[in-house]
Amino acid sequence: EDRFTRDLPLKGKKVVITAGPTYEAIDPVRFIGNHSSGKMGYEIAFNAAEMGAEVVLISGPTHLNLDDKRIDLIRVTSTRDMYEAAHENFGNADVFIAAAAVADYKAKTVADKKIKKNDDTLSLELTKTEDILFSLGQVKASQKLIGFALETNNEEENARKKLKKKNLDFIVLNSLNDKGAGFKGDTNKISIIYPDRKKDFELKTKSEVARDILKEIVELINA
Ligand code: CTP
Ligand code: CA
Repeated sequence: EDRFTRDLPLKGKKVVITAGPTYEAIDPVRFIGNHSSGKMGYEIAFNAAEMGAEVVLISGPTHLNLDDKRIDLIRVTSTRDMYEAAHENFGNADVFIAAAAVADYKAKTVADKKIKKNDDTLSLELTKTEDILFSLGQVKASQKLIGFALETNNEEENARKKLKKKNLDFIVLNSLNDKGAGFKGDTNKISIIYPDRKKDFELKTKSEVARDILKEIVELINA
C-alpha cells in the first residue's frame, strides 16, 4: 500500500449518503417533519470526499450549505423523492449510508386547498412511508449498506433488529439517553453494531464520528 492510497482510502469508490429530515405535505402550506439538522450526514459526505470518494449526498430540507465541487448534492423534500434518488444512485454505488431521519408516516390524502380551522379537534389519517433502507437491502448486491438507529430504550436489541431486517453490514446506534448525543447538537456518542460484535466509541464531534464510521467502512471494503 503506497502513501497515495493510504491517504485516499476511498479513492475510486462511490459513496451515497442520505441526510436530514423528510417533509410530508398535509396541505399546500403545512407539513409533517422532524428536528434533524442533517449535520451527521453532511459531515460523512465531506469526510468521504476528503478520503477520495466520489460522493452523492441526497439531502432533505436543512439549513446547511455545502458548496463542494467533489460532492453531488441532490436536494429532496419528501420520502418518495428521497426513495427515488436513493434507488437511482444505488446500482453503481460501493457504499450507501442512510443518515436521514426519514418521516415514518405521511398524510393518507394531501388536501389540495389549505385546511380551514373549523371544529375544536382535527384528525389526520396517516399512512406509512416507504422504508428506503429496507428497500435497498432487498436489492443489495456487493454494496456496503449502513444504517443509523436512534433509540431511547432497549437500544441494542432494537438496533440489532433493524440491522437484520434491513440487511445491513453494520448499524450505527446513537442513544438519546447519552448527554450530548442525538440529532440536533454538534456531538455524538455511537456504537457500531455488527451481527457478531459491537464497538463502543467516546463522545466526539460529529466530524470525528463521521471519520470513525468511514474508517470502519474502509476496513470492511479491504477485509
Ligand atoms: N430509514 C429509511 N426509510 C424510512 C425509515 C428509516 O431509510 N422510511 C432508515 C434511516 O435513515 C436509518 C434507519 O432506516 O438509517 C433506521 O431508522 P429508524 O427511524 O431508527 O428506524 P425505523 O425502521 O423507522 O423504525 P422506528 O422509527 O419505529 O424505530
Ligand atoms: Ca423511524
